[in-house]
Amino acid sequence: MTQITQAFACADDLFGFPRFPDNVREASRFPMKNGPSLFVPDRDDAYVFRKDHVRIIQFWAVGAEKNILLQGETGTGKTSLIEQVAARLQWPTFTVGCHGGLEFQELIGRVTLQPDGSTGWADGPLIAAMRNGGIFLLDEMNFLKPEVAGGLNTVLQATSYTVPETGETVWAHPDFRIAATGNAVDGVGKGAYRGTQTPNIALLSRFSLGIRVSYMSIQDEQKMIEAKAGGIAPSVSAYLCELADMVRKSHAEGALKAPMSPRETISCARRLTAYSGNLTGDDAVQAQCNSMANALEMTFLFRWAPEERQEFLRAATSVAKRLALPIVLE
Ligand SMILES: Nc1ncnc2c1ncn2[C@@H]1O[C@H](COP(=O)(O)OP(=O)(O)OP(=O)(O)O)[C@@H](O)[C@H]1O
Ligand SMILES: [Mg+2]
Repeated sequence: MTQITQAFACADDLFGFPRFPDNVREASRFPMKNGPSLFVPDRDDAYVFRKDHVRIIQFWAVGAEKNILLQGETGTGKTSLIEQVAARLQWPTFTVGCHGGLEFQELIGRVTLQPDGSTGWADGPLIAAMRNGGIFLLDEMNFLKPEVAGGLNTVLQATSYTVPETGETVWAHPDFRIAATGNAVDGVGKGAYRGTQTPNIALLSRFSLGIRVSYMSIQDEQKMIEAKAGGIAPSVSAYLCELADMVRKSHAEGALKAPMSPRETISCARRLTAYSGNLTGDDAVQAQCNSMANALEMTFLFRWAPEERQEFLRAATSVAKRLALPIVLE
């Protein structure tokens, strides 16, 4: 796992875009690891990449910038974007899911007790990525306590770290990369993300490359749903995407407290295909439309307040009418 990247691959081959012209291909090369490694995330073949994201990620992958920050609403695909890039490039990824109780020491590692009674050392995710070369994924960074964020300030730009417990100096491998994700990192829309902190400016300034991950286009989301929920009728997946788009706009305007995330469109589509079973064609469309009310309810409406629910059902009914689908919700 410690070898430096040796091979390169072009973005069109890696991320499923139609073939680029030769001069563009040459400029779109990404560094691959030799893999396989236990720490490479599993590949999701249904993942839909966006060219604008891939272009930014290239700066990070080639090492022009070592730290990248992805910020955006829940379910827009921040964590999975890093994981799926890593899966294509065969880059080991050491992830920590941040929470209010996380201590800096957990990122660094811990002293262990060996069977013979002597002491050893186990790297935490940050030191493992630094030592071996790979991605340190700081997921949900906005849950970090200020003390931990402060500790990270130093490490994020260091070329080495001396472990106090062992005295060992660990040098940053050339393939050491850091990716952080977070909702409302800018503090905007924080109300919907209770419990999160706005990371301090010093920490944010260590991320001089970033992506504001927005919801994908209706067409891309439909492609994703159809890949992830085999058997969903195209007219029904189009309905879910139109509906999600409308709900997201209402949320942005403050009319609804929660958006409808891609996580929810995928789950809902999977419930619908479970209801339609082996049916195909018009029969599948009819069965999926008949079960729409149940699928929406069990996927996320069950946790919405009654007034919000009514507002949502009105919107959902109007989209069904516009698309002329036999969906009855109220
Ligand atoms: N572009 C995409 N292609 C395929 N699946 C996607 C895409 N974007 C998101 N998803 C799917 O949507 C779900 C949510 O994605 P993910 O967990 O990456 O979101 P997130 O932005 O990290 O959310 P959170 O802020 O809640 O952590 C996952 O199942 C993921 O596979
Ligand atoms: Mg995430």
